Amino acid sequence: MSTHPTFKLAGVMGWPIAHSRSPSIHNHWIQQHGLNGAYVLLPVNPANLQDALKGLSALGFAGCNLTIPHKVMALSLVDRIDDTARRMGAINTIVVEADGSLSGYNNDGFGYIQSLRDAHQEWRADAGPVLVMGAGGAARAVIVSLAEQGAKDIRICNRTDASAYALATEFTADFAQASDAAKGAVVTAEPWEKRHDAVADVALLVNTTSQGMGSNPPLDLSLDQLPLQALVSDIVYIPQETPLLKAAKARGNPTAGGLGMLLHQARPAFNAWFGVMPEVTPALRQKVEATL
Ligand code: ATR
Repeated sequence: MSTHPTFKLAGVMGWPIAHSRSPSIHNHWIQQHGLNGAYVLLPVNPANLQDALKGLSALGFAGCNLTIPHKVMALSLVDRIDDTARRMGAINTIVVEADGSLSGYNNDGFGYIQSLRDAHQEWRADAGPVLVMGAGGAARAVIVSLAEQGAKDIRICNRTDASAYALATEFTADFAQASDAAKGAVVTAEPWEKRHDAVADVALLVNTTSQGMGSNPPLDLSLDQLPLQALVSDIVYIPQETPLLKAAKARGNPTAGGLGMLLHQARPAFNAWFGVMPEVTPALRQKVEATL
């Protein structure tokens, strides 16, 4: 491998990490743009995360992505955190600065918003109430990204009601203090047992739970009362058409799958490391689809 100074390295830290699609995405762009660099898998045991992050600069890395289980722990291990990542409570991208210090970002929300725009150019965050199913890390990223785009009425519905209420309280207080587009966004919780009624007047329904993924059962949610123009989105991308999306399509609702979020979240990180803002092309989509 070349040690030429313009050779740029980046990678993804996780544990386990072998399943990650990120190398396919970033190495596709490195090739496409004729860059001198590589994006590698970095299997890092959580016990070694601090040492691994400290080593990035010494090893000449431009930065890295973080995935399960490192996204939250890394918050306390970087030198600065941008506002969006702080709100989300997790980091998925680290940039090694010229002085060797580490800056933390979270581009999952950027990826989510771009994936909706990709699927429906006319989509707007302020079109009406949003219903978010789930209250885990993915829900946090989705809620913050929607509020930062101007969504003002965000509702959370989660199997464990207490988590939905806790998230609603935290975000409503946070957004009340905001000085950006998230200012004044109100986040409320809907009881899980009322979920079939909660879809009645929403403009966007999003699944952030693991239901419908792989061999998991479908999300237990009736779409009977959902307005026909409501956009239905699922951040699950295996399968690309989850039972929720299939049901939404069958009744005529517009839909957006989860693969776009995975592809688009990689773009700002690539830009920060390699100095080129890459595009999500049909060729890239096909390459990653082939690995699913
Ligand atoms: P992530 O960080 O990817 O969001 P997570 O934090 O484990 O993952 O969250 C998974 C989400 O899926 C949670 O909202 C979880 O609900 P609970 O808070 O009640 O655990 C939701 N989930 C998992 N299994 C579920 C099921 N069988 N039915 C409904 N929701 C489920």
